[in-house]
Amino acid sequence: MPGSLKRRPLIFNLFMMDTGHHEASWRLPGSYPLANLDIEYFEKLARLAESVTFDSVFLADHPSLEGGGRRPSGRIEPLTLLTAVARATTRIGLIATASTSYNDPYNLARKFASLDLVSGGRAGWNIVTTAGDASARNFGLDSQPSHLERYQRADEFVAVARKLWDSWEDDAVVADPSSGVWSDDAKIHAIDHHGRFFDVRGPMNLPRTPQGHPVLVQAGSSEDGRDFAARHAEAVFTAQQTLADGQAFYADLKRRAKLAGRDPGLVKILPGLVPVIGSTEAEARDLDDQLDQLILAESARDRLARRFGLSPEQLPLDAPLPSDLPTEDDIEGAKSRYTLIVELGRREQLTVRQLIGRLGGGRGHRTFAGTPEQVAATIEEWAAQGAADGFNVMPAALPSGFEAFAEHVVPILRSRGLIRSEYAGTTLREHYGLPRPASQYAPVPEGALA
Ligand SMILES: Cc1cc2nc3c(=O)[nH]c(=O)nc-3n(C[C@H](O)[C@H](O)[C@H](O)COP(=O)(O)O)c2cc1C
Repeated sequence: MPGSLKRRPLIFNLFMMDTGHHEASWRLPGSYPLANLDIEYFEKLARLAESVTFDSVFLADHPSLEGGGRRPSGRIEPLTLLTAVARATTRIGLIATASTSYNDPYNLARKFASLDLVSGGRAGWNIVTTAGDASARNFGLDSQPSHLERYQRADEFVAVARKLWDSWEDDAVVADPSSGVWSDDAKIHAIDHHGRFFDVRGPMNLPRTPQGHPVLVQAGSSEDGRDFAARHAEAVFTAQQTLADGQAFYADLKRRAKLAGRDPGLVKILPGLVPVIGSTEAEARDLDDQLDQLILAESARDRLARRFGLSPEQLPLDAPLPSDLPTEDDIEGAKSRYTLIVELGRREQLTVRQLIGRLGGGRGHRTFAGTPEQVAATIEEWAAQGAADGFNVMPAALPSGFEAFAEHVVPILRSRGLIRSEYAGTTLREHYGLPRPASQYAPVPEGALA
């Protein structure tokens, strides 16, 4: 295979989604349609991921009801769910999604600091700006703030959160009963932040946590999203359909990180992969077809039409995409996913019905149906060809698809040194190969460059 892996082992994250990432997975024989509401289900899934030394598990989130009626809907709030998972596991990293558009930095920074403490340094925050008016309407707004404004707020939000996480120097806690001193107040700092969106005095009402602050993850790939990631993200989730697109995204984000004055090696890029595994290629394709046939085409078409800002009648199921769709500039919701979907439909000349089938598997993430050997080979290829530092593994059906991955793909990856065989550290930062950041308020050590 040409090229050489930049990093061994790779990073592996399990994106936990109730019955699986395929929207019809809950209709498969033997599925568990109440998985979304069952904490023991998620604990078990995370323990399985930990048993094969995955680096982290991850939960997505939107502060509004999605789905409704035709598929499992309603999700346990991720920080709450991952607090339970923290107590059911010992090593695996725990990444929760939370919105910067519909939270306040003080409360959210405190919740993530709490998860980091409770889990012994395993917390990560998937920072999202939340697309769509449905969420805005739950927070006193008629429609979502513009795409640009959401990212501007996110920028300031993260700056405030970082100041709060740093507001206690690492050695501020003395806890000495004999002198009666619990904390050294000279090492606890008000942050006195005054900005366009937030005024926060600080300090945080918790000491600095095991990781200093949670691992910062980002998951929007528009221009603004990439610049935001270049400034703040330590790991990036992304949807990429082709190796060429994956390589271009990888190179672009590393370049932007460098321009932002950061070490590009400390921005880990994790494209999504939706594996559909069979003992033969034909068996994998059959399972993929079986899932696609269970999609309710009309309701999937309605969702696609909403994303495009069209009425359902403007998207006939057996016709190609209309030629006069809006451009990414006209979209105020999720820009990069919009472009990915339109390009997929056009590049492969799909009808709306075929496009719905392709999206049903992973909402735009790359579905790969094949044998364990073929799944391992595509993972190796993307990493060797400069498209990934690791993968966001999103099985089409859960738990069966992840059981198959753990049992059949992991041993192949392990034999090639692509996945670790034991944890080297205890924190998510250590698993991902990220340093523990110093507090921005700590005095610069003598001899160090100021
Ligand atoms: C793996 C992955 C997970 C994501 N999870 C969420 C999520 O839980 N909530 C959310 O609002 N957006 C999530 N996003 C981001 C949206 O898909 C969308 O890209 C983003 O809201 C808009 O970003 P953009 O306009 O910069 O492309 C996720 C993206 C990826 C790649």
